[in-house]
Amino acid sequence: MSKNIFKQSFEITKSLREKKNGYKSLLIWYTGLSGSGKSTLANAVEKELYKKGYNSYILDGDNIRRGINNELGFSKEDRSENIRRVAEISKLMLDAGLIINAAFISPLISDRKIIKDIVGVKNLFEIYVSTSLEECEKRDVKGLYKKSREGLIKDFTGITSKYEPPKNPDVVIDTQDKDISVCVNEILPKIISKIKLDA
Ligand code: ADX
Repeated sequence: MSKNIFKQSFEITKSLREKKNGYKSLLIWYTGLSGSGKSTLANAVEKELYKKGYNSYILDGDNIRRGINNELGFSKEDRSENIRRVAEISKLMLDAGLIINAAFISPLISDRKIIKDIVGVKNLFEIYVSTSLEECEKRDVKGLYKKSREGLIKDFTGITSKYEPPKNPDVVIDTQDKDISVCVNEILPKIISKIKLDA
């Protein structure tokens, strides 16, 4: 951080916005392999939240890497910076009273710890999309697993770059052989109870 920077405080606070909305803001973080179903789940959860009148927004690895993070690659350092920036963006969105669905591989425990440090553990709901490498590779929606096996992509998660599963996620979802609506029904009640304003 540069020197001579002063924190400014504003009068319309997160808690005032939450009271006005009638629910708490929350960062729902989806971690898992490429092709595990993170974005599909985030989309389905967001549709249900929208129907119920909650204000939400999706942050997704592929999209964020086309814009604000377009200079970042897939080295350990770049992934770490990718996640740090997304956590900082999420913190702003939490302040603005939103529910954020963030879908990022976020393969390392140490990087996911940084998210907690930035937004605070009480603002975070972690979903581990645990769909196996075999299933993700079978789906290979983007053709990236094939390219990676052919040696055309370096540092590909699950093949040439490691993925560390979370130890204590709020929910574990395996999307194999399970309808998306079943997955959403497992997640949604937990989110809704987490965003209830305290009486
Ligand atoms: S993260 O590891 O930094 O969290 P992020 O979720 O932003 O990754 O981006 C993952 C997406 O980038 C994948 O779904 C895939 O489409 C694409 N991608 C391109 N190269 C790689 C790679 N080497 N490893 C993983 N994903 C990659």
